Amino acid sequence: MWGGRFAAGPAAVMREINASIPFDKRMWKQDVAGSRAHVAMLGAQGIVAADDVRAIDAGLERVAAGYAVDGVPDDLAMEDIHMLTEARLADAIGPAAGRLHTARSRNDQVATDFRLWTRDATDQVLAALLALDDSLLARAEEHAASVMPGFTHLQSAQPVTLGHHLMAYHEMVARDVSRFRDNRARANLCPLGAAALAGTGFPIDREATAAALGFDGPTRNSLDSVSDRDFALDYLMAAAQCALHLSRLAEEFVLWASQPFGFVSLSDQWSTGSSIMPQKRNPDAAELVRGHAGRITGCLVSLMVTMKGLPLAYSKDMQDDKPPVFEAHDLLALSIAAMTGMVESATFRTDRMRALAESGFATATDLADWLVREANVPFREAHHITGRAVARAEALGVALDALPIVELTAIDPRIDARVYDVLSVDASVASRRSFGGTAPDNVRAAIRAAREARA
Ligand code: ARG
Repeated sequence: MWGGRFAAGPAAVMREINASIPFDKRMWKQDVAGSRAHVAMLGAQGIVAADDVRAIDAGLERVAAGYAVDGVPDDLAMEDIHMLTEARLADAIGPAAGRLHTARSRNDQVATDFRLWTRDATDQVLAALLALDDSLLARAEEHAASVMPGFTHLQSAQPVTLGHHLMAYHEMVARDVSRFRDNRARANLCPLGAAALAGTGFPIDREATAAALGFDGPTRNSLDSVSDRDFALDYLMAAAQCALHLSRLAEEFVLWASQPFGFVSLSDQWSTGSSIMPQKRNPDAAELVRGHAGRITGCLVSLMVTMKGLPLAYSKDMQDDKPPVFEAHDLLALSIAAMTGMVESATFRTDRMRALAESGFATATDLADWLVREANVPFREAHHITGRAVARAEALGVALDALPIVELTAIDPRIDARVYDVLSVDASVASRRSFGGTAPDNVRAAIRAAREARA
């Protein structure tokens, strides 16, 4: 492509380190689409003659058809997908192919292709996240009133409902959806026409190419257009954040599926066995979702470190932008699909959850609140009285609501038998009606609101 200036070809290692085709061939559809929009604009502006435009466009279609059938080879001599497509075009239509690159550089071309690819990836992630959200909402509805222990420090804290717990993940997924949508809106500007870095002297129409490729308009500054990779970093940031959420849910599944918890059995489809221990049902998919979050975060860090300190405009370092985004996308797509499958098919052991919720003195706060409400005891003092009640129950080996009233009145005479109304786990969750609280009616209202927000 630059033979005029060079007497010798590249060293083999130069060729290898320089080539991006092994990974950027993944953008071949975007590359062809960008070239077709560009040549149509060159024709409309009278920069390339109509018959050449027709030949180039038909040739690009043939090149694309070839890629679709045979795949794209790792042709290191061609360096990247942009060069290979142009070479294939020249094979197909002859010298007219040489007019395609008028008023364009690979710098604005690759920035355009990569934005298009990232936009498609974002749309795929959004669809997958909405499917995950559907299954979270469905399972939350099913378990709006199923009591489980709520934890802080992984110690039994207060009873909550499983529906409420799953709706916490709905909130995370909803924020992920909003983050990916914000990214898409911000990134949807077209760098094509920035050329190498300074713009071009040809009378191009950047609005036209932007519109043809579904962008909201052209990017504003030619230097920024070819050196900006914020759209890729934004994708990775959202992907890492999303992966982190999935990883927390995956970790809960790993814990819950363990025998000491026994809160969930993963379906056969989402478990693996052991080659030596016949009793095993391992939550490998959940563990891998947890693991993939680390790799996705690594992808984000990788591109941040690549970009930091690069002077304007394009530097070849930026060729390294694509592998982390591709890798993160593949890992994220798998992770979302796997979590969706696990959430959909899990069997929640609600009797076990209830038994543990009842065993950890989880309604102690309800006793303290009762003293505040019914006996006008200051909360700090109520806390102390309740602590003694818990210690007594523990010493007798009974739950708080099985402590005889004489035991309670011995600790504080202001307690009377009405207190038992608040000491059951059902009463506890039903009482938590403050906005955002775990009462089953609140959970159902939250699910309705979530569905309305989606509609
Ligand atoms: N393969 C290159 C990349 O992915 C395309 C841009 C090359 N531009 C250049 N000035 N060498 O970044």
